[in-house]
Amino acid sequence: MARNAKMILDKAFRISEIDDRIYGSFIEHLGRAVYDGIYQPGHPLSDENGFRRDVIDLVRELNVPIVRYPGGNFVSSFNWEDSVGPVDERPARLELAWRSLETNKVGLHEFSKWAKAANSDVMMAVNLGTRGIADACNLLEYCNHPGGTKYSDLRISHGQKEPYGFKVWCLGNEMDGPWQLGQKTAYEYGRLASETAKAMKLIDPTVEFVVCGSSNKDMPTFATWEDTVLSHTYENVDYLSLHSYYGNRSGNTNDFLAKSNDMNDFIHSVVAICDYVKAKKHSKKNMYLSFDEWNVWYHTTAADKEEMEKNPWQVAPALLEDIYTFEEALMVGLLMIVLLRNSDRVRMACLAQLVNVIAPIMTDQNGGKSWRQTIFWPFMHASRYGRGTALLPSIDSPLHATKNHGDVTDIESVSVFNEEKGELTIFAVNRNLDEDVTLTTDVRSFEGFTLAEHIVLEHSDLKAVNSSAGETVAPKTAAQSALDGGTLTSLLHKASWNVIRLVKQH
Ligand code: AHR
Repeated sequence: MARNAKMILDKAFRISEIDDRIYGSFIEHLGRAVYDGIYQPGHPLSDENGFRRDVIDLVRELNVPIVRYPGGNFVSSFNWEDSVGPVDERPARLELAWRSLETNKVGLHEFSKWAKAANSDVMMAVNLGTRGIADACNLLEYCNHPGGTKYSDLRISHGQKEPYGFKVWCLGNEMDGPWQLGQKTAYEYGRLASETAKAMKLIDPTVEFVVCGSSNKDMPTFATWEDTVLSHTYENVDYLSLHSYYGNRSGNTNDFLAKSNDMNDFIHSVVAICDYVKAKKHSKKNMYLSFDEWNVWYHTTAADKEEMEKNPWQVAPALLEDIYTFEEALMVGLLMIVLLRNSDRVRMACLAQLVNVIAPIMTDQNGGKSWRQTIFWPFMHASRYGRGTALLPSIDSPLHATKNHGDVTDIESVSVFNEEKGELTIFAVNRNLDEDVTLTTDVRSFEGFTLAEHIVLEHSDLKAVNSSAGETVAPKTAAQSALDGGTLTSLLHKASWNVIRLVKQH
């Protein structure tokens, strides 16, 4: 029997203007993200600075406005001073978070050059694990102060006259985690983060701060951590961070694809805590969210642990190199939809990560090619067509049963209206694995719009993967939508990611 869903879209149903930084990503000094990833001197495709041109092109294709750097867990024992100055004089260090050898051949200056070439801003993180207020202030002075002081003059002596002007600063990383160097209690961290932000703001009042939320929603201290940390930092910070990774550990794809509902619940819980602290403090200020680590991650965790135990202190070991299946591309599409539906509070988000490490972009080992993983596509589509105002669709979708998530909707969707460009884009996943669904959308408020294209990502094998030998999971345009007056009818195949684009006729 045919399954039908109905949707109403209206210009007036606004969620929010989307902050472009919701399409951010993340590069950590971890595995082959930096060395052998973005940076590979001697590779035929590398530029005069040693950066892979082909990788930069793929990052540009993703159109990533901001990249979090240099960690992650890495940042919690990082001495930034080791990563600046003449490259040949920089020390190699034991990198404790990933038990690797950090050569410091790529540091602040090199990364910032790379980010510029990739058309991205840098979201900088400071070490609040093994270090503290003074070091964070020194780093900010080095990066953002014009000159005439110890650290700004040091930057100038390193060849960078103009201040970098990094705007967004993360106050440590996952400070509640037992795996974190310098793990802290909520009280210890809340006080430190607040005092660090206060001091840094005296150096550069234009910067914005991201304070650490719980490492994930399953942490035993989740919620009380957010409450305590925000109670100390509320007036000094701008965003609270959320992290979450998903995986099909049980092998039940139907249930796996329902896990995007967990991300939605997580965001709503954190918003509730933020608003509770706002009320408690009688504050007028809203706390916004930075979902600065999100993705699928589970394939390599056991092997990575073993590798770090057995073969520590390697330069650029192949860690966290999850190879993503087609069903995981659907999941990334579903998670992106959740982020956009919450874009009134989620202002920034980082797909973690960007190159080689749980990444949409891979490079082969031993100097080979670069290529796109399956998850590249939904992220790329959202980043390319999802700029503008997020619209809340009113959806009436059939439901299907799942093992742990009860009955969930077949269709998950969000739309983005770009008034300036005259474009309306519907992002929709049919997460029913057995049945196609016909979606009928009322688009009467978009008079004068015509159907531009319906892009589909689908595959007969949910476990299909891409590799440098071929990108078998790739989008295509399909004749599956028709616009008649104010009614758009779209066939959404079972297990598919869909991008339906309407444009205004001039
Ligand atoms: O993204 C990989 C790691 O996941 C990050 O270093 C850490 O912040 C998180 O636990």
